[in-house]
Amino acid sequence: MTAAVVVPETPVLIAQDVTFRIARFLPDVDSEVHWEDFVVPMYPTDRVLDALSKIKGDLDGTLSFRRSCGHGICGSDAMRINGRNRLACKTLVKDLDSSKPITVEAIKGLPLEKDLIVDMEPFFAAYRQVLPFLIPDGHEPSRERLQSAEDRAIFDDGTKCILCACCTTSCPVYWTDGQYFGPAAIVAAHRFIFDSRDSGAEQRLEILNDREGVWRCRTTFNCTDACPRGIEITKAIQEVKRALIFRRV
Ligand code: SF4
Ligand code: F3S
Ligand code: FES
Repeated sequence: MTAAVVVPETPVLIAQDVTFRIARFLPDVDSEVHWEDFVVPMYPTDRVLDALSKIKGDLDGTLSFRRSCGHGICGSDAMRINGRNRLACKTLVKDLDSSKPITVEAIKGLPLEKDLIVDMEPFFAAYRQVLPFLIPDGHEPSRERLQSAEDRAIFDDGTKCILCACCTTSCPVYWTDGQYFGPAAIVAAHRFIFDSRDSGAEQRLEILNDREGVWRCRTTFNCTDACPRGIEITKAIQEVKRALIFRRV
């Protein structure tokens, strides 16, 4: 006699109405940001990005936000959700308190263009300033530049950055005047400063020794908490500070 096959019950997911309170700003019409509520049927496993897409598709086509990959890779949909910087495509409704309106706003500290879209240029300008590319020594080698696994591990964390700006735009120092290089640029610098194949560490350290550089960090840790890639940003900033003090890289 063959044993009966027990098929596990599939849990039934039920869509529930969830209110999204979205900070709107239409530059041709509005003089300041205002809130608008949208009620959307959502499954617990839906993401905030799904809600925004439903609102744009079914309720208000003027709602503007950035997104591309939908899977936490491109870094284009950073926004402030319930007061905290996150990627909309990585934030599930079940992980938020949906018994009250879920607030969605543009990230802070960068010029607001429309609704949830900010001008990212100041963020990328700081990134470019720290020379985020390999500066090798000498002539082009005839074979690959070798590196031990131990040396590679030293800067591995920073290679995970997707330039989403969640960190920089959660930093209170950056909010004050937007002049501070910001944690993302320092992470990018760290990634090359501690790369054994690179010869540009001294240049980058000098750039970050600027009055708007690494010393403006007050170890607030907002950046580390906000990073969707789990990068230990504050630790990286401290390592750059130490490298500046000891100039041992
Ligand atoms: Fe985004 Fe993290 Fe990179 Fe900052 S360090 S830009 S939060 S991925
Ligand atoms: Fe800002 Fe992060 Fe430093 S939040 S103050 S860069 S630890
Ligand atoms: Fe690409 Fe969210 S849409 S990271």
